[in-house]
Amino acid sequence: MPTISYLERRGELETYFDRTAVEAWSKLTSDAPLGRIRATVREGREQMLQTLLSWLPQDLTGMRLLDAGCGTGPLAVQAARRGAKVLAVDLSPTLIGLARKRAATLLEAGDLEFRVGDMLKHELGRFDYIVAMDSLIHYTARDMTRVLGLLATRSERAVLFTFAPRTLPLALMHMVGRAFPRKDRAPAIEPVSPAVLHRLIDSETTLAAWHAGRTKRIVNGFYMSEALELTL
Ligand SMILES: C[S@@+](CC[C@H](N)C(=O)[O-])C[C@H]1O[C@@H](n2cnc3c(N)ncnc32)[C@H](O)[C@@H]1O
Repeated sequence: MPTISYLERRGELETYFDRTAVEAWSKLTSDAPLGRIRATVREGREQMLQTLLSWLPQDLTGMRLLDAGCGTGPLAVQAARRGAKVLAVDLSPTLIGLARKRAATLLEAGDLEFRVGDMLKHELGRFDYIVAMDSLIHYTARDMTRVLGLLATRSERAVLFTFAPRTLPLALMHMVGRAFPRKDRAPAIEPVSPAVLHRLIDSETTLAAWHAGRTKRIVNGFYMSEALELTL
């Protein structure tokens, strides 16, 4: 059962990613020129995307993959190109519309589907791999761990996700962020120390059979995120 804090944050994220941030997010995930700060974010995101993809088998033919919180769909597209049957889901109808437009040719082939909604919806089905790139970073560590537990019950092989590691540079970045007017701000990112996150994962009953595996922190200018792999 999702908690009230999860549902509240989900509502804020839907508004933010479907209205406030659509233009910025569309630009960030395209080839359009960016200012210096955002360019570092784009580069960092690309490194993270390639890290997560490198943790999946090279040949994904016949594997089912859920891109949980897909945004404009960059990971979904690359996984589908490697043969996976991809279901990509996001709260934002506008970002899903953009993702469909960008992936029109692949969509015709039938191995990629974009859907609007919550990644926790049961009817999405079961998957070999579930990947959540930067889509859980706005939830508290407790809510993120519960979400991982629920996602894990629907995965046969691995759940790959990223979190915001609690570090001094990240805290400073958030302080800078707080200097911007409230209306332009994203819902807060919820940093967590890797040690605390590992303890929460160890104590989550739905993750009892799962092991924390590879981990990789990407730091590039204003982008900082850490990937973690959960495997059976
Ligand atoms: C920072 S963006 C990352 C998008 C994409 N994964 C990427 O890396 O390009 C986070 C996305 O997660 C989505 N999201 C957050 N919570 C979600 C939920 N509970 N179910 C589905 N999507 C969610 C948001 O709508 C947003 O598009």
